[in-house]
Amino acid sequence: SDGSGGRRFTLTAQEGASELIPGKQTPTWGVNGAFLGPTLRARRGDRVSVHFTNKLPETTTMHWHGMHLPAVNDGGPHQSVVPGAVWRPEWEIVQPASTLWYHPHPHGQTADHVSRGLAGMFILDDDASDGAGLPGRYGVDDIPLILQDREFNDDGSIELRNVSTLESFAGVGNIGVLGDTILVNGTYDPYLRVTTTLVRLRLMNGSNARVFNLGFTDNREFTLVALENGLVAKPVPLRRIQLAPAERAEVVVAVEPGERTVLRSFPPDIGVGFPTKRLDGGEDTFDMIELRADKRLTESPPVPDRLRGAPAPIELPDSPRVRRFRLSGTNINGKKMDMERIDEVCPAGRVEVWEVEGNADGVHSFHIHGLSFNVLQYAGNKPAAHLVGAKDTVYVPPGDMVRLAVALPDYTDEKKPYMFHCHQLRHEDQGMMGQFTVV
Ligand code: C2O
Ligand code: CU
Ligand code: CU
Repeated sequence: SDGSGGRRFTLTAQEGASELIPGKQTPTWGVNGAFLGPTLRARRGDRVSVHFTNKLPETTTMHWHGMHLPAVNDGGPHQSVVPGAVWRPEWEIVQPASTLWYHPHPHGQTADHVSRGLAGMFILDDDASDGAGLPGRYGVDDIPLILQDREFNDDGSIELRNVSTLESFAGVGNIGVLGDTILVNGTYDPYLRVTTTLVRLRLMNGSNARVFNLGFTDNREFTLVALENGLVAKPVPLRRIQLAPAERAEVVVAVEPGERTVLRSFPPDIGVGFPTKRLDGGEDTFDMIELRADKRLTESPPVPDRLRGAPAPIELPDSPRVRRFRLSGTNINGKKMDMERIDEVCPAGRVEVWEVEGNADGVHSFHIHGLSFNVLQYAGNKPAAHLVGAKDTVYVPPGDMVRLAVALPDYTDEKKPYMFHCHQLRHEDQGMMGQFTVV
């Protein structure tokens, strides 16, 4: 139950090789293996301690995306781990059940390190959501799906720059490599055997740049039950859900005995015009994974109308402090990331309004470290049902604004900052990131 144990994780980032696509050996990086890393799991109240060893030939970091923790343990660009070194962060899990992830965050090198294969899921549990009535047997009816695109060169290597895509033809839409190959949990052309009438999919867009617009080929309805930082209070029936890089959603899908259906990414609505739309993947379709239901299925209890354990909405004070962030090119408010500059100093535990504006042709997904936010307004409108809940990353409407209610961390540190940035990793690496301290 909550508030008890200790969880120790021993993680090693290492070089390897893997047959990611048929018949080719791909040099890769992974955590405790050749590609990607193990799913980590902890419970609210647990004390987590990580023993992270960098056996890579380059300096890296390990960031706990979506985790509420002191900045010094965040694994951002200030927590560098040089080759051969060990980093030992420790923190307490103080937030609701949710599907988080981990990935490197070295200054200017994040896209490369994630592309090579460093990422994994970090699932949090708590008593309240254990009782929510959702499918919850990991690997049986509760399935993590790390969705990624990759571009492979003829020699099998992963393309790290954008030389082999359409993007090289134009100076526009320069969001980095968009691959033409989909990997799900590192698997090419995957399928999932389903043995229960309902299956819960923890969807995570682990791509560097590509936005997915997910639905089923037969257009069946599914139920949204969680966003990045926790369950949603009221499950939402949907036929499509769009996820920008680093966004997550948990959905529950019903299947009939013996049937097959494919989770597909349809052309996403990224809100930009031609040619950026084409160059940034706005016209692309991919089959992600096939669901293959057994002839006999174990009956699952129905998804409740209300979910226990959903985080409460963030309450705005009467006159909240408003901060504005204008994203354009690879800058925020006209500035590039500077490790030595603190951009915002924020009061601990307070709720503020952050207004994030995107330039007209810009494809950006905005992420804030160490906290959760709610979307108050999206491009001048009330947020759509699938944006209502606890989030840590949001797609920024091009040429418009998203208003966020931001619940600042309780942990203070005058020196060590948290990051806010575009999660289009190439943008991040090129400077579309800033730092805030909490005092
Ligand atoms: Cu997912 Cu600053 O990162
Ligand atoms: Cu993060
Ligand atoms: Cu961006």
